[in-house]
Amino acid sequence: MDEFSRLDEIQKTGLEALQAVADENALQSWRVGYLGRSSPIMTLFSQLPQVPKELRPAVGQRANQVKQALESAYALHSQAVKEASLNRALQSEQVDVTLPGRRFVPGRLHPETRTLREVYRLFGDMGFQVYRSPDVETDDYNFGLLNIPEYHPARDMWDTFYTTNPNVVLRTHTSPGQIRAMRDFAPEPIRVILPGMCYRYEQVTVRADIQFYQVEVLAVGRHITFGDLKGTLTEFAQRMYGADVRLRFRPSYFPFTEPSAELDVECFICGGVGCPVCKQSGWLEILGCGMIHPVVLQNGGYDPTEFSGFAAGMGTGRISMLRYHIDDIRNLWINDIRFLDQF
Ligand code: PHE
Repeated sequence: MDEFSRLDEIQKTGLEALQAVADENALQSWRVGYLGRSSPIMTLFSQLPQVPKELRPAVGQRANQVKQALESAYALHSQAVKEASLNRALQSEQVDVTLPGRRFVPGRLHPETRTLREVYRLFGDMGFQVYRSPDVETDDYNFGLLNIPEYHPARDMWDTFYTTNPNVVLRTHTSPGQIRAMRDFAPEPIRVILPGMCYRYEQVTVRADIQFYQVEVLAVGRHITFGDLKGTLTEFAQRMYGADVRLRFRPSYFPFTEPSAELDVECFICGGVGCPVCKQSGWLEILGCGMIHPVVLQNGGYDPTEFSGFAAGMGTGRISMLRYHIDDIRNLWINDIRFLDQF
């Protein structure tokens, strides 16, 4: 075969092979194979000195044409391959920026949790710390030690959930925590609040549920008077309900306090005129309170001739109803997400 047919052959196979090249790797090996140092065309260049002298210019010229043809075909094809691979990447990595985003659903605090934290903060400002006591109590802590003996008519004030063990009850109020705190702190002075869920076997209404939060307030010391009770609770109520809210202390009865009282705030629905929420009285009862009964002080480990103290117990459900405009207290613990979502 003469040099011219060989050159034709080199150009033909080179261009054909290039047509099959579809990616950058193949492109690279094609370049090495058809334009590299030991490729047929380059080999032919290096053998040019052996070509008979009179043919050499024509062969050389033809060889240059073939090399240029291969080079420009390569340049063109590699451009096409790069564009194709870019398009493939754009296709496969496509992001639809018009799709709606996925909404992040944050958790939130229960309205009662928020109310409780506000109560902690207000009493914390006055030097009270939070003290925890159990939800399940013995009959003794819930009643006996609080000066409510068995068969005492005052037990009717609390309709109780009993358990199969007749000595174990669900606490009907947070007052048993008074005894626990006193036995823990005696003979040191005490200033604590005791928050917790309470349970009563009662008729459920818009204003009262069978489970509810109470916060007990307890102060014990050597010179605590009824004036301290009034001052502390008035300060709390004014910070909670507003500085110019109308308040009234009313005499009452609890077996574990003497004297006893209840604190009313003017009805936040009708402003004191009278409505169904306040049963037309214009007042809402927010807590029971009193000076700790000597028997209870003694049961807690304090000498009633030296120590005195006051206690109060308030439900927080009413406070939440007021703060968040909840018109039915049963919503609080029914666990309906449509209700809870609103806070
Ligand atoms: N424990 C009482 C109740 O639940 C409230 C109370 C607490 C009254 C402390 C006086 C002192 O009804």
